[in-house]
Amino acid sequence: AWKIDSFLEEETSRLRKQVGTGRVICGLSGGVDSSVTAALLTRAISDQLTCIFVDNGLLRRGERDQVDQMFRGHFKTDLRVVDASEIFLQRLAGVDDPQKKREIIGHTFIDVFRKEAETIEDARFLAQGTLYPDVIESGTKGDGPAATIKAHHNVGGLPAELGFDLVEPLRDLFKDEVRRLGEALGLPEQLVWRHPFPGPGLAVRCLGSVSDDRLETLRHADAIFMEELHQHDLYREMGQAFAVLLPVRSVGVMGDGRTYEHVIALRAVTTTDFMTADWAVIDPAVVGKISTRIINEVRGVNRVVYDVSTKPPATIEWE
Ligand code: XMP
Repeated sequence: AWKIDSFLEEETSRLRKQVGTGRVICGLSGGVDSSVTAALLTRAISDQLTCIFVDNGLLRRGERDQVDQMFRGHFKTDLRVVDASEIFLQRLAGVDDPQKKREIIGHTFIDVFRKEAETIEDARFLAQGTLYPDVIESGTKGDGPAATIKAHHNVGGLPAELGFDLVEPLRDLFKDEVRRLGEALGLPEQLVWRHPFPGPGLAVRCLGSVSDDRLETLRHADAIFMEELHQHDLYREMGQAFAVLLPVRSVGVMGDGRTYEHVIALRAVTTTDFMTADWAVIDPAVVGKISTRIINEVRGVNRVVYDVSTKPPATIEWE
């Protein structure tokens, strides 16, 4: 069995040896891997660590505050939160092609990250939350989930281009080991068991072109969906679950009048490897409650649909 205590001890001394007195930058995304990386580094070399969190304006409700509270607040990490939402949204304005969105977001992320990293005096190392499956996939021309996800992520290739030495403390671990390590490091259960979230964020769940208003609609609907899943103890049964804002409007009625408003799709899947996935069967009473809440509480939405497609041939995300 994998021993957390001995891993922590060995990895801490290995890290200290690797970085010496050098300064380490760690990009935080709010996800499990980068959070565990940052928490581990905080424990091992806190005085030499600076974390960067880029707010790209495509985050879920409360996400930025959670990261801030957890790291700056709880761990006392030296954290730079860069609010770059304006530049991301400007560059995305009017773009509706999914791959084009990914490219813009990937390149903009590198621009913003590099600019911030340059202001950190004598930074020599870049910490990454690379896991063992990523390591094997990138060694081959793999088309497994990890390789696919990395390929999406690394538009432009962050680490090599920036010229840092890499620090990858999780590179021998599998996901479940990373989660257990996260728990041992004191990260909250809610974070450790969080579903994966794509690098391009809500941009690929806001179908068609992305705007502040549409993002806010999506964010609100998604927050209600997550709240209900947690409330009914269903969150951890899903591999991934989220709301999608469709690029169509549909007719509805309200009082004596007709409405012509947005449609939200709910996507929830069970999966082990994200290569194949089944749509999740949720108690109709729960789906009904989520739908009613979204339609009543989210302005501009008059219809909710539930996605009953398996992967393949559908994908988990809609874009
Ligand atoms: P699909 O939609 O291809 O998704 O079935 C499989 C997994 O990959 C995630 N995904 C992404 N992750 N950048 C990412 O970091 C992306 O551009 C991206 N696209 C999809 C998706 O959320 C699911 O977990």
